[in-house]
Formats: sequence, structure tokens, C-alpha cells
Amino acid sequence: MSERKKVSLPYLFKKVANEEPITMLTCYDYPTAHFQEQAGIDIILVGDSLGMTMLGYESTLPVTMDDMVRHSKAVRIGSPNAWLIGDMPYMSYQPSVETAILNAGRLMAEAGCDAVKLEGGAEMADRMAGIVAAGIPAMGHLGLTPQSVSALGGFRLQGKGALQAKKILDDAKALEEAGAYSILLELVPDRLCKLISERADNCFIISLGAGLHAHGQLLIYHDAFGLYPRFKPRMAKVFADAGQLIQDGLKQYAQEVTERTFPQPENWFGMPDEEYQELLNLIDD
Ligand code: KIV
Repeated sequence: MSERKKVSLPYLFKKVANEEPITMLTCYDYPTAHFQEQAGIDIILVGDSLGMTMLGYESTLPVTMDDMVRHSKAVRIGSPNAWLIGDMPYMSYQPSVETAILNAGRLMAEAGCDAVKLEGGAEMADRMAGIVAAGIPAMGHLGLTPQSVSALGGFRLQGKGALQAKKILDDAKALEEAGAYSILLELVPDRLCKLISERADNCFIISLGAGLHAHGQLLIYHDAFGLYPRFKPRMAKVFADAGQLIQDGLKQYAQEVTERTFPQPENWFGMPDEEYQELLNLIDD
């Protein structure tokens, strides 16, 4: 797997044409990126969710462009070949098209991302078009958009009613027409995701808690591997409980240090007798 070719947009669209699901995970650091590279994950998203999963904030709103650049850089080093998307944090694109292009450019130039992602529908179509016109591939994000959590009334299902669902469908078309190569649908009903996926002509759809009918699936890495202590959302499945494994290991470490059973001779380095004797003589002097 480590010898795989760099994932490109033509490769991703070929998967879509062949009806092969695209694999996508969030990632925020070098060692995890290395594991995801070895596992052959197609797309890695350095999400602004790092504010919650890595920095312990209650929401994604305090995350800065500098945070995103630093974490994206580390992920790029760990995974040279995945399609790497840098998430645009709160207020890095909302103020104007120019702000959006400049900050998208930072993620590409400073962090080595292949693309960026921004939240919002028709109201963000001009930002999307501006970024794409600057030569930067951009993914849209509809449904539950965490940067608008306050306006949405919490982390909850979006598009359950027909009117709201129609708005999300129209927003998806607006983003596609503005040049988005892909749209992430977060926490919308699976039937709505199916309709949007079937109507997508020039972009592919990724589902996060939106069912099977998208062209690919995304999970938040910390949810999928038991690493987020606050809660596990229903849309996630725990594929391996790394959190529990680490917890058990930590208890054992504390116990062995306390009982003086760690370290053992294989964990330290000795000194030849003659050197030691000479050292004692030097100290005596
Ligand atoms: O920040 C992030 O990880 C995201 C996901 C919730 C899709 O945007």
C-alpha cells in the first residue's frame, strides 16, 4: 500500500464511474496520517473538527487558519499520496470572495493540500466560484454544517421536512454550478442523499451519516476509533476501540512504574566495567 500512486481527481472520478465507493476519513496529525496512507484511504480531510477532537474546544468556531495550516502540513508529511483536503475554518471565507481565495491559497501553498472544503449553499456559491477560478479544487458541505451550529439549533439531522430538503437539493446544484468537484452531505436523510447523488452531473457526493447512496463515505477518525471521550454520534461505527486500548496501556504503565517492574535491562544501557571504574576514580579525584 505504501507504494501507491498519488490520488488525483481523474482517479476519484474513475472510481465514481466504476461505481466503486470512495473512502474518506478525517486526520489531524503525522502518525495517524501515516496509518491512513498505509491503509490506502483515498481522501483525507483535515477538518476544523480538530478544534473539538484535538484541542478540546466545545465547537469548531475558535479554530484559526494557522491551526489548519499547521495540522494540514503534518498530515501531508504522513500521507504524501492521499487526496488531501484542508477545511476552511470559521470566518476564513465568509467575509468576501477575496478572503476566501487568499485563505484557500494558504492551505495549498503552505500546507501542500490538494483541495479545500467550505460550508454553505447558494449563499457561498460566489466564494466557491472564486476559489475554483483561482485554480483550487473545492468541495462543498451541506446539511449539518458545524460552523452554523448556533443557527441550526444544535448538532441535529437536517432536511427531514420536504421544504428544507428541497433547499438542500437546490444548494447542491448551486455549488455544482459554481464549480465544486464534490459535495459532502452531513446528517441528512438517506433518501435526500440518494436524490442529490443521482442528480450530480459533474461532482461526486460524500456521505457523513447520510446513508449508502453517496459516491463515498466519510467518518470522523476519532469517532471511528474510540478516541473522542465526550460522546459517540449514532452515525459513527467504532471499527477498533483504540481509546480503550490506550487507556488499558496507560494503567499498566502506571502500575509497572509503581511496582518497579519497568524498566527492565532490555530498556536501558550499561557501561563497561573499566569505564565505570575510571569514572569512579575521576570522581574520587
Ligand atoms: O471538520 C470536519 O471534520 C468536518 C466534518 C464534520 C465533515 O467538516
